Amino acid sequence: MFFRKKEKEPIVEEKPKLVPLPSDDDGLVEFIQTIKKISGVDLTPKQDVIKHRLSYFAQAHSIATFRDLSNKILGDSLFRQEALNLVTVNETYFYRELLQLEIAVDFAKSLQGNIRILSAPCSSGDEVYSIGMLISQAGINIDRVSICGIDINSDAIKQGEEGIYSARSLHRLSNELRNSFFDPLGKDFKIKKRLLPKCEYKLVNIFDEDFLNLGEFDIIFSRNMMIYFDEAYRLKTIERFYKVLKDNGRMYVGHADLIPNSVLFDKNMIGRVVYYQKAKKYLD
Ligand SMILES: C[S@@+](CC[C@H](N)C(=O)[O-])C[C@H]1O[C@@H](n2cnc3c(N)ncnc32)[C@H](O)[C@@H]1O
Repeated sequence: MFFRKKEKEPIVEEKPKLVPLPSDDDGLVEFIQTIKKISGVDLTPKQDVIKHRLSYFAQAHSIATFRDLSNKILGDSLFRQEALNLVTVNETYFYRELLQLEIAVDFAKSLQGNIRILSAPCSSGDEVYSIGMLISQAGINIDRVSICGIDINSDAIKQGEEGIYSARSLHRLSNELRNSFFDPLGKDFKIKKRLLPKCEYKLVNIFDEDFLNLGEFDIIFSRNMMIYFDEAYRLKTIERFYKVLKDNGRMYVGHADLIPNSVLFDKNMIGRVVYYQKAKKYLD
């Protein structure tokens, strides 16, 4: 039980002093390994930025070392999500690598029946809606198409669901496209979902079990995620994509994503655009 002192002194709450994380280098290596094990993302080249970003995060949670940070990440899923949201790079925008999107939509046009498209990772949804806009302009019946965006970053997934974007995200779009597909919302823009195929978002880590429960897809986009992975994780990633790609489906990766040599996929090209198909000898 607490008793106030008789003399009426003001009660001053002592705030913990904010001290930057010590250069706990062993702990930092362990922390980087923990993030890599969970997500595939290799933070080694970005150590300084990460150190800086995480010191404030750790202080806010009264954590003093990177080792304690790793332990908390492993034991506390909410905390893990917050940390992943901080360390992942979500840079994206509408109509990024447009030619590749157009070639993929041409392929979609050649398909019969329902078409399932996966954007893994989708970040804040710019890629998902870009594909949706191109599908709708290509004259494909939007009711035949569904686009599923997944990402490990819950803030990004939330933005995708809301569909609200800054002018910067739309900088590649003509005024005509912007006016047709978005409603102005203050200084931002809200996507008109009713003009697009069904676009859904899921918080999924490609290395988790949930990923394999997403079903099979005709088209997979995986752009600008594997650039943050090392060779071993890139290989694991394409093995997982193999499992969710339909036999006659196609996979498109970003031009900077280095796909490891694998017997699972054949590499093909249309002009300058590369796509991958399941290797024929593994299908027979
Ligand atoms: C640079 S963005 C790419 C977005 C979009 N595909 C594009 O090219 O514009 C990379 C995304 O990969 C996500 N990511 C990283 N590791 C992941 C994992 N293991 N599972 C799912 N998403 C992951 C990050 O959260 C981030 O949003």
